[in-house]
Amino acid sequence: MTLASELSFTPEVARATAPIHQRVKAVIPDIEWPVHAPYVDAINRLKQERNAVILAHNYQAPEIFHCVADIVGDSLALARKAAKTRADIIVMAGVHFMAETVKLLNPEKTILIPDLMAGCSLAASITGADVRLMREKYPGAPVVTYVNTSAEVKAESDICCTSGNAVEVVESLGAERVIFLPDEYLARYVAGQTSTEIIYWRGHCEVHERFTARELEDYREQFSDIVIIAHPECPPDVLETADFVGSTARMIDYVGRERPPRVLLVTECTMSDNVAVEYPEIDFIRPCNLCPHMKRITLAGIFDSLCRLEPTVEIEPATAARARVAVERMLALGG
Ligand code: 13P
Ligand code: SF4
Repeated sequence: MTLASELSFTPEVARATAPIHQRVKAVIPDIEWPVHAPYVDAINRLKQERNAVILAHNYQAPEIFHCVADIVGDSLALARKAAKTRADIIVMAGVHFMAETVKLLNPEKTILIPDLMAGCSLAASITGADVRLMREKYPGAPVVTYVNTSAEVKAESDICCTSGNAVEVVESLGAERVIFLPDEYLARYVAGQTSTEIIYWRGHCEVHERFTARELEDYREQFSDIVIIAHPECPPDVLETADFVGSTARMIDYVGRERPPRVLLVTECTMSDNVAVEYPEIDFIRPCNLCPHMKRITLAGIFDSLCRLEPTVEIEPATAARARVAVERMLALGG
């Protein structure tokens, strides 16, 4: 087994990684490639030896997203594709709740997350006990839980949703009112798209809550042709200012379909780098709000976890069984 200290940018590594380097040149400066390439080469070999796949969320850095990931996407796509993979080992290049969702859907497999501290402010905003209290307060109202929550919270829920299917999930219940947890802004956005009454919690994404409508208006003043696309975790006035609102996958689809000459993706800013690789002709304006949790995942961390097969994601079996039902109900809706 190669140790991290033995990795170096040899002519063989440069040759083996040249096609990948070529693809990401626009977003990874040449001067950085000798640092990334030895890890990229070693990780891609190790994946084969271990029969492992790497899942990467759209917010992962380009050297992960474009250079070592096998499956990329939004939370919904990662959950769906994770349910189908045949690999023995799955590495989640994303945050802890995503790795837990993968474990729920693949209880027999080894699920690795390179940093167990890769959390999420939404997931941290609510506990299973909070969900039970909400049920007591609003008896009979079904609980829809955003996937950005712990398995413990999912276990207390009727069904999960992502930002890509939240409205569809709420409407599938045919209820007059629904408890929607924990993202207040996503809940308010959903409330605007459906006649179902939405009871919400006051959890926020620490990345998206920082955007302001004023900031977006300033960009519009500066660039009259700018198209503003926002994630529904943003505050309501930000969403009102946007031209389009959608999950990270829908934002990317919009860019691919409409090809606006100039675009502002109002979300974690790494995503613009990843999309820019596909659409070099589009001018991306990148006000930078980074997710510190997503950024805990690095090439060095991925390499280390694949070598040691640690840290693994484990969920207490009784909790997992209940949480799985909520995730599978969502996936059964298809779409
Ligand atoms: P989606 O990729 O599902 O839109 O979620 C965004 C997010 O913040 C995940 O942490
Ligand atoms: Fe959580 Fe926001 Fe980071 Fe996504 S971007 S993982 S919602 S803190």
